[in-house]
Amino acid sequence: TRRFSTIKSASVSSMAEDNDGTVKQQIAKLFETSLRITIPDEPSLEPLVVKCTGKFGDYQCNNAMSCWAKVKGKKTEFKGPPSIGQAIANNLPESEMIESCSIAGPGFVNVVLPNKWIAKSIQKMLEKGIGIWAPRLRVSRAVVDFSSPNIAKEMHVGHLRSTIIGDTIARMLEYSNVEVLRRNHVGDWGTQFGMLIEYMFEKFPDWENAGEQAIGDLQAFYKASKLKFDADPVFKEKAQQAVVLLQGGNEKYRKAWSTICEISRREFHQVYERLGVSLEEKGESFYNPYIPKVLEGLTNQGLIVESEGARVIVIEGKQIPLIVVKSDGGYNYASTDLTALWYRLNEEKAEWIIYVTDVGQKLHFDMFFTAAKLAGWLPADENLYPKTSHVDFGLVLGDDKKRFRTRSSEVVRLVDLLDEAKTRCKAELVERGKSLEWTAEELEQNAEAIGYGAVKYADLKNNRSTNYTFSFDQMLNDKGNTAVYLQYAHARICSIIRKSGKDIEELKKTGTIVLGHAEERTLGLHLQFAEVVEEACMNLLPNVLCEYLYNLSEHFTRFYSECKVVGSPEETSRLLLCEATAVVMRQCFHLLGIVPVYKI
Ligand code: ARG
Repeated sequence: TRRFSTIKSASVSSMAEDNDGTVKQQIAKLFETSLRITIPDEPSLEPLVVKCTGKFGDYQCNNAMSCWAKVKGKKTEFKGPPSIGQAIANNLPESEMIESCSIAGPGFVNVVLPNKWIAKSIQKMLEKGIGIWAPRLRVSRAVVDFSSPNIAKEMHVGHLRSTIIGDTIARMLEYSNVEVLRRNHVGDWGTQFGMLIEYMFEKFPDWENAGEQAIGDLQAFYKASKLKFDADPVFKEKAQQAVVLLQGGNEKYRKAWSTICEISRREFHQVYERLGVSLEEKGESFYNPYIPKVLEGLTNQGLIVESEGARVIVIEGKQIPLIVVKSDGGYNYASTDLTALWYRLNEEKAEWIIYVTDVGQKLHFDMFFTAAKLAGWLPADENLYPKTSHVDFGLVLGDDKKRFRTRSSEVVRLVDLLDEAKTRCKAELVERGKSLEWTAEELEQNAEAIGYGAVKYADLKNNRSTNYTFSFDQMLNDKGNTAVYLQYAHARICSIIRKSGKDIEELKKTGTIVLGHAEERTLGLHLQFAEVVEEACMNLLPNVLCEYLYNLSEHFTRFYSECKVVGSPEETSRLLLCEATAVVMRQCFHLLGIVPVYKI
C-alpha cells in the first residue's frame, strides 16, 4: 500500500536561505517553544496564532482556553485560562520579534512587534528581493488543471474564468517555491471527431495541404457538420465508422484529427498569449492508452461492477454510480479523469492536484475523488497528501443578470472582450492627453496592461464560488476596488519616487527605515504579505490577495496624507517605504497576472 505523508513532514526544502517564513509562522514558533515549557505533559500542542483584529497587539496566541480544558481536574498550578495565558507569555523565549506581551480576556496572549523589527524586515526584503517573503508551503509539486477548452467548440467565458483563476493559483504556488505542472486538459477526444473528420474529407478533399486554411472558422464548421450528421443517415453511419478508425489508430484518420486539433490550438493560443498565460497541453487523448490498465486495476480491486450493461463504480451516498465504461464499450469523461489522476500521482508524482472548472461539474469531481480514495490512491484524511481539490467557480452574468451573452444571444468571444477592454482604455488615455505625452507604443502597451488587467481583476476579486456580473463600466472605473484604481495608485507611488530625484537603488544600500509615525507603522506591518499569499494558496482563493492589495493601497493613501515624504527630514526612510509598497504591489499584480503600469 501507498504511504501518505502528513502535512508536517512533507518537504519544506529548497527555501531561499534568507526566507524565515511568514511573520505568523515565526511568532507561532516562539509560542510553540513556550507551550512545551508551560504544558510539558502535552508535547504535541499546536500553537494557535492569528493576527489581532483589535488594538491590543499585532498577533495573538489563543491556546490558553484549550490548554485549560486539558489540565483542568488534574493536579495543576493553574487557576484558569488567564493564568495559563500569563504562563505562556512568561515562558516565551527571548526574541527580537517581541516588543511587549499582554494578556486579555480569557487568556489571549497579545504580542506587539517592535517597530525596529518591522523596519528591518522591510529593508532586508528591499535588499534581497521579494522572493524572501514567499510563504513556505508543504507541497513540492502540484498539478494545476485549468482552462481546458474543448476542440472545435467555442472557448466561452467559463473557460476565461478557469484560465484567469487557474493562472493565478499557479503563479501563487510558483512564487511559494512549488513546482507547478500547468495542464491544459483539452477535450480533444470523443465521438464528435468522427463527424468532423468525415465532413472535412467531403468539403475539403485537399485537406492534407490546405485543411487548416480552408476550414477557417472551426465553430461554424462544427455546426455545419452537426447539421449534416443529424440530417443524413449515410453520413452519420460514415461518421460513426470514422470514430472506430480514429480510435483504432488509422493513420489517415489520426492525421485528419490532428489537423483539426491544430486549428483550435492556434485559436486558444491567441487568447493565452494576450493574457500572458502559459499552459502545457496534455489533452484527454493523451491518457487514452492508459485507460484499460487503470480500469483493470480497479476491477481487480473489486471496485468496478457491471450495471445495466455499463461498468460503474458505486459511490456510497450518491444516487447514481460513476460510469467508467459506457454500455457501448466506450470510455468517457470519468474514465479519462480517473486515468489522468492515476498518471499525475504515479508518473508525475504530484502531491496536490487542483482542477479549475465551473461549479456545474462539482458532482463529477466529488465522485471520482471518492473513487480514488476507495482505490487507496488518495488518503481518506484530507489533511494528508497527496490530495485533490476542485476549485469551482460561478457564472459570468450580463447586465440583465442572466448568463453573459452578446446581443444576438451568441456566446461571447473572448478575443472580442479583450479587444473592447483595450479599446476603451486607449480612448480614456487619449482623452487624458496621453497620446501627446507617450509614444504610440507606450500608449498601446499601457492600454493593454490596464484593459486586460481590469478584466482579470474584476473576476479575481470576487469569491470565485459566486456568480459575477461582467461590466466594462464597473471594471474600468478609476475609483473603487478596481484594477484601474490600483494601477493608478501604483503609478502614483512610482511618480513620487521619480519626482524626489533620488536614486532609489542607492538609498536601498545606504538608507535606513524608521517607523516613527503611527501610519508608517501600520503600513509597514501590512506590507508583510507572505501569510496572505499562504492563505490564498491553501484555500485556493485569489480574492484574498485582491482584498489585501486593495487594503494596501488604502493604507498607503493614509500614510501619504499624514506623512510628508519629499523634502521632509524623514525623506529617505519614507521613500524606502514608498518603494517597498510599490514592490509589494507589483508582486501582487504579478501573482494576479496583471502587468503593472509605471506612469499614468
Ligand atoms: N473540457 C472540460 C470543459 O470544457 C474541462 C476539463 C477540466 N479538467 C478535467 N480534468 N476534467 O468543461
